[in-house]
Amino acid sequence: MPAIRLDGKLLAQTIRLEIVARVAVRVADGKHAPGLAAILVGDNPASHVYVRNKRKACEEAGIRSWLFPLAANVPQRDLLNLIAELNANPEVHGILVQLPLPPHLDEKAVLDAVDPTIDVDCFHPENVGLLAAGYPRFYPCTPHGCLQMLRRTGVETAGKEVVVVGRSNIVGKPLAMMLALKRTDKNPMGGDATVTLAHSQTKNLAEVCRRAEILIAAVGVPGLITAEMVRPGAVVLDVGMNSVDGKLVGDVHPGVAAVACSLSPVPGGVGPMTIAMLLENTLRAAELLDG
Ligand code: GUN
Repeated sequence: MPAIRLDGKLLAQTIRLEIVARVAVRVADGKHAPGLAAILVGDNPASHVYVRNKRKACEEAGIRSWLFPLAANVPQRDLLNLIAELNANPEVHGILVQLPLPPHLDEKAVLDAVDPTIDVDCFHPENVGLLAAGYPRFYPCTPHGCLQMLRRTGVETAGKEVVVVGRSNIVGKPLAMMLALKRTDKNPMGGDATVTLAHSQTKNLAEVCRRAEILIAAVGVPGLITAEMVRPGAVVLDVGMNSVDGKLVGDVHPGVAAVACSLSPVPGGVGPMTIAMLLENTLRAAELLDG
């Protein structure tokens, strides 16, 4: 039997409707609508599409959004000045600096400049530290999207063997952390799983992956995970977003559908969940700041 398709688009729609209702209650109570400022540097076509989709989702949820498009050669000082201005604006509850940045910009200095209380990507070291310690202010969007997808489709992570492939700061590293963390009142998305974080230096990747009851691919190599690498009956999440001949494809080879129990597609899997979690964080920032 082919794998069940984990429909992230549908799940994200449900979450977005929940957010619409919470935003509406805030506004009816006379509070500011949450507001997100998106900074987009340069002309990376994929980044333009992602930011457009994020802003459209904000609009549909009743969250205000502002776009700050900057030239590819913007001086670092100008970008830091813009972030300082947005940090000081009480209508801004979230700042998103779309990555990647052009190489002349110091990504760490830029992300560190965002006020951690409105760092809705959860990239600031203070927020990464809070998450690691088990007291998250925000959950990072893509890892949170993966965990919500598992939880909302009834896949328990506690005690499971989970393999995450890819150790990026945006997905693999924080996702492995969230999966391994203890679930507590302060950290309800802790996964309580036994986690292996595999990467480009991992020996016998296929063998490591075959141990996984839940396998999550976040590498950026089209079709890297093939059917032989998957334990029969595993749950597989594909976080890859690769452009091949103008088509969006994941890290998981289509043949995996014959072996896995369930599989998230690309597109329409984890991608829409990431956007829903950005809305969640923007609303959460507004709640933390304005009550
Ligand atoms: N580039 C790729 N993924 C992301 C993300 O989740 N947030 C930001 N800001 N940039 C990205």
